[in-house]
Amino acid sequence: MSSQPPHPALLIPGPIEFDDAVLQSMSHYSESHVGAPFVSTFGDVLSNLRKLFQTTDPASQPFVLSGSGTLGWDQVAANLTEPGDEALVLHTGYFADSFADCFETYGVKATQLKAAIGDRPQLDEVEQALREKKYKVLTVTHVDTSTGVLSEVKALSELVHRVSPDTLVVVDGVCSVGGEEIKFDEWKLDVVLTATQKAIGCPAGLSVLMASGRAIEVFKARKTRPNSYFGSWKNWLPIMQNYEAKKASYFATPSPQLIHALDTALKQILSRPLDQRFADHRNASQKVKKAIADLGLKQLATKPENQANTMTAIVLPEGVTPPDVVPSLLKKGVVFAGGLHKEIASKYIRLGHMGVSVTDPNRGDLTKAIDALRESLAEVGKA
Ligand SMILES: Cc1ncc(COP(=O)(O)O)c(C=O)c1O
Repeated sequence: MSSQPPHPALLIPGPIEFDDAVLQSMSHYSESHVGAPFVSTFGDVLSNLRKLFQTTDPASQPFVLSGSGTLGWDQVAANLTEPGDEALVLHTGYFADSFADCFETYGVKATQLKAAIGDRPQLDEVEQALREKKYKVLTVTHVDTSTGVLSEVKALSELVHRVSPDTLVVVDGVCSVGGEEIKFDEWKLDVVLTATQKAIGCPAGLSVLMASGRAIEVFKARKTRPNSYFGSWKNWLPIMQNYEAKKASYFATPSPQLIHALDTALKQILSRPLDQRFADHRNASQKVKKAIADLGLKQLATKPENQANTMTAIVLPEGVTPPDVVPSLLKKGVVFAGGLHKEIASKYIRLGHMGVSVTDPNRGDLTKAIDALRESLAEVGKA
């Protein structure tokens, strides 16, 4: 029985529903951010992040900064690229536009390789783009939260290492880490950035990033200083290394309560084999997608291989818009999100299936969501 007050099930693609123990960790009494107990907890968080990202390379470096997922983009642009550098941004929806905009803010030229809505750039197109110009970084959104499109990160990384080996492979894993399989070392990734509020299942407020040894070398070889102060790895690298070695350190005050919540969330995730967790997300996603198809509805991502396991973007029947169904879904106790991709926002809704809503079937969140959707469509005469 949850100790949380009754509330509608939050099934937007993040923030997600949180486990009681994770939430309760946030009511930890106040403690010094440089005291041994807190430093030890921060150290555990960093070592557990290595496990979550499946890296055992001692040269790779986790960062946990106060901020949201967006701060991960800033960290990449400010620390790994320099003004005048080129970034190839693979576009599968809204979040590539924003990442590209972030690069431009730092004087980096961002070239977007776009796919039709619901699709992803194909490997041969990416290869051609990489052969045409030398890019400092390639970025890919693992799951684009605006379209529910899944990118083929492993194959992309292989391609980059074959065709343009100096290009850093940067993955926006905000809607994937904790729900989609990611093998940081094996797939030879350089950066995976994420946030806490989605498949990791911890309240929003932390920017989580893993950098490879190669990325750290590129950072150290910069000719110009990082063009951010708060986000500068010059400031944070020694702090993260000290925390992991359980030594007190200070650059800017962290949020002890959020770090405690993340510590609990990571320990819960790692208490089971990661493969099982990813399989749970795949199975839940398959069930949702089958139920959507049984209702006669399509997804924005039409090809099965393009479909995320952490969320589903559901195309509404002709003539139905999100305001016709989202409020009635809420009345039935489930919160769906409206569309986000600006060209088609009025035509679809989004359902997140991550974290406890997937791993704790006793909650019944996803069954409730599908039943509510069926009823809401019937109310508007479409099911
Ligand atoms: C794929 C993706 N990237 C980046 C972000 C930005 O993260 P935040 O809103 O935590 O700043 C989001 C937010 O939903 C996202 O879904």
